[in-house]
Amino acid sequence: CGIVGYVGGQSALDVVVAGLKRLEYRGYDSAGVAVLSDGGLAAAKRAGKLVNLEKELGERPLPGGAVGIGHTRWATHGGPTDANAHPHLDNAGRVAVVHNGIIENFAALREELAGRGHDLTSETDTEVVAHLLAEEFSSTGDLAESMRLVCRRLDGAFTLVAVHADQPDTVVGARRNSPLVVGVGEGENFLASDVSAFIAHTRSAVELGQDQVVELTRDGVTVTGFDGTPADVRAYHVDWDASAAEKGGYDHFMLKEIAEQPKAVADTLLGRIDASGRLTLDEVRIPDTVLREADKIVVVACGTAFHAGLIAKYAIEHWTRIPCEVELASEFRYRDPILGPRTLVIAISQSGETMDTLMALRHAREQGAKVLAVCNTNGSTIPRESDAVLYTHAGPEVAVASTKAFLTQLVACYLLALHLGQVRGTQWGDEVLAVVRELARIGEEVERVLETMEPVRALARSLAHKDTVLFLGRHVGYPVALEGALKLKELAYMHAEGFAAGELKHGPIALIEEDLPVVVVVPSPEGRSVLHDKIVSNIQEIRARGARTIVIAEEGDETVVPYADHLVRIPATPTLLQPLVATVPLQVFACELATARGNEVDQPRNLAKSVTVE
Ligand code: G6P
Repeated sequence: CGIVGYVGGQSALDVVVAGLKRLEYRGYDSAGVAVLSDGGLAAAKRAGKLVNLEKELGERPLPGGAVGIGHTRWATHGGPTDANAHPHLDNAGRVAVVHNGIIENFAALREELAGRGHDLTSETDTEVVAHLLAEEFSSTGDLAESMRLVCRRLDGAFTLVAVHADQPDTVVGARRNSPLVVGVGEGENFLASDVSAFIAHTRSAVELGQDQVVELTRDGVTVTGFDGTPADVRAYHVDWDASAAEKGGYDHFMLKEIAEQPKAVADTLLGRIDASGRLTLDEVRIPDTVLREADKIVVVACGTAFHAGLIAKYAIEHWTRIPCEVELASEFRYRDPILGPRTLVIAISQSGETMDTLMALRHAREQGAKVLAVCNTNGSTIPRESDAVLYTHAGPEVAVASTKAFLTQLVACYLLALHLGQVRGTQWGDEVLAVVRELARIGEEVERVLETMEPVRALARSLAHKDTVLFLGRHVGYPVALEGALKLKELAYMHAEGFAAGELKHGPIALIEEDLPVVVVVPSPEGRSVLHDKIVSNIQEIRARGARTIVIAEEGDETVVPYADHLVRIPATPTLLQPLVATVPLQVFACELATARGNEVDQPRNLAKSVTVE
């Protein structure tokens, strides 16, 4: 979910709605706002996207005011209805609260409140907070103090932002696990789930820590712990430009983000490889001794970031000879994994907020493992709680389906694997030098792929009526196939599956039927030609059974030509780096198919970009 709060000299409603627009990628099941004015509180909320709320506000305007809060929701408790939309109010309509996360003990609290005569009207866990705040306020007369008292009674992960009509100059926020950032302005202050909501107004931000409450007035920001202990407030400068979060002439953020990949890749490499080909990852603040002694690496991540992890495994094991496991973060801690001081855990996350990944890294640290985050969002929770971080420099990624962040995650993982190899003195031969040289030009290669995508778009349009597309790959091409299938599910709502091409004969080949589109990612014929030849056989096997083959192969690879119904060329690269170029056509393919099927590209149904619940 996305949360905004504002107090200052501008129209709170305008600032809050504009902020919600920036945060809509975090959830778009419903949206709502509340403003304080003339001693009262006015609220509006609507199921569906923010435009529904804007329409409602156009028809029934709220009174203007200087204090407001807003919310855009990704539903957890209760369906995406008007009643379940935030903000939630107490029975007297004096308190309004918005919430991100899950309050686990809400059923008990709800029963307790009902016993005291409160009338709870929604199915959400959030509503109990409005009622509890109203009760506490009636004895304390202070919203921040009420919030502290209430938070101490809540279990689960949450960010809360509230206003009270009887304290009309104040917005109060609270944070446990889910993110909340303060934007510090002049004569105005902001609260939001991330900086993009207020970047147009101020670049000065304060990240709230775990279990903290913040009180915001026009001229003051006061932070305390849930127990009332004052906390240090240190502002940092946000270096993202407001225009980076604009569409800049593209129809969709996703198209813009796909186009930005050459730069994102280059920016992530910048300053990290010196002229002699040595890695300089000074920011990886884990002592070399720890890296030398690591006997196991475990990558944890979700979604697209998990696919980056699967690819990282090939590079890490090949270049460092350290065993590497890759696990879905949501599965990790529940199976009691074997971890210790010699385990290095790599947590990959674009947002740095994914709750599954955060919980996995906490579990790893509790077991004594060292955690290194690969993250795209400065100062977010996952890097803050890790022992070290290697930032990707993709810039803000707004489209829900991840593209440029994925490519930069790959780059960061390659850099890390090379760094580990360098520190441990393994595999530092000609092969690695060739990879380093190739990395230096990979941005240009991605650019070249982007320039040749028109036939891929035409092909996608011609397949818009299909129900199923399969994706095959081997070696690093296998996670690429998984990512291609995920993109298609997310965006085109089509049945799509990725398989290891060698596994096909053990079951999935039964799915092949006349004219079924099958995308095959072919590894480089150089070096690992056995692998290449095997996949060429796999293409023949599926084609013999009627599949329509869409072959992604290196320039100059002529062996595939007779078996490809459609051939997509990518530049020749060392096999381990091939995902950087091979994924791009799959992103374009999914994006175009989604458009052809009339789907919303940037905000696919049911999804949210940062999932801050487990
Ligand atoms: C959500 C998004 C995915 C993303 C995943 C992990 O499910 O819809 O696109 O890959 O979260 O996100 P993260 O921010 O941790 O990389």
